[in-house]
Amino acid sequence: MKTIAVLTSGGDAPGMNAAVRAVVRTAISMGMNVKGIHRGWNGLIEGDIIDLDVRSVSDIIHRGGTVLRTSRCKEFETPEGQQRAVEMLKVYKIDALVVIGGDGSFRGAHALSKLGVKVIGIPGTIDNDIACTDYTIGYDTAMNTVRDAIDKIKDTAYSHERCSVIEVMGNRAGYIALNCAIACGAEACILPGQPLDIDADIIQPLIECRNRGKMHYVIIVAEGVGKTQEIAARIRETIGIKAYISVLGYLQRGGSPTVRDRVTASLMGVKAVELLKDGVSDQVMVVRGSDIISMDMEEAFAMEKHIDEYDIMASKILSL
Ligand code: F6P
Repeated sequence: MKTIAVLTSGGDAPGMNAAVRAVVRTAISMGMNVKGIHRGWNGLIEGDIIDLDVRSVSDIIHRGGTVLRTSRCKEFETPEGQQRAVEMLKVYKIDALVVIGGDGSFRGAHALSKLGVKVIGIPGTIDNDIACTDYTIGYDTAMNTVRDAIDKIKDTAYSHERCSVIEVMGNRAGYIALNCAIACGAEACILPGQPLDIDADIIQPLIECRNRGKMHYVIIVAEGVGKTQEIAARIRETIGIKAYISVLGYLQRGGSPTVRDRVTASLMGVKAVELLKDGVSDQVMVVRGSDIISMDMEEAFAMEKHIDEYDIMASKILSL
């Protein structure tokens, strides 16, 4: 193993830079050369590839985003695109690849592995929606960003006795929504994949809250539900209070990574390179409890992850 390359792919996540830094420094400490691939799979296909040294990754551990930049690449989903990527790896004499990204990025990495490329995946997405791992890089920072935003929105909702309907990211999963509902004391949390009766699940509980003396309300809606407007309109027309929508959007993906994200990313980066050095390939790094381990991609893809019903129940009790 002489030369490895690292890329970030899919939606960026705070902590990706810490993972890139760890990959670069671990590989160099083991005597390897390291290349950085810009703009994910697009950059690989186009040969947007640079040499990295230990100083190339100085002063990035605390920065959000990804210094390698990222993209979502349709061409790479095709056999032709994947073959172009393989050829470019040959051109640059790259022996192995570390891919930092989400589930889609791992599927791309696995496809390359089938074509003979050595790959290790590191889970980076704010959504925490990768089934094989308890935790994905960026999730903690995103939740703290959402918590900060909701705390601020709550201050003004309190002052004006309003209802705030807050849409948070999470793709088709509701992990950010549910945890932030618990952390911020939301009156209701609406998650994808759960049956929804707006009157029974939101309107009636809000009226009951009001009858118990509450005068302001926070409703968190996961983006995957797709009913934020409808929910706010129904609150206005039935309860007659002002219901404002805040779509938190991309601010959730930015910002300096938390300690948890920096440490998880750093350890995954070190271990990913150790695995490649030992000849391991086609695996993904995962957090299992308090351990960081790795598992085969095929096995990882077959796993399912579900939101914790107990947490849903707890968030409802605590919203009284
Ligand atoms: O996967 C991270 C994420 O921010 C999701 O929460 C969101 O659904 C999606 O990316 C947005 O993607 P894009 O960057 O393409 O707008």
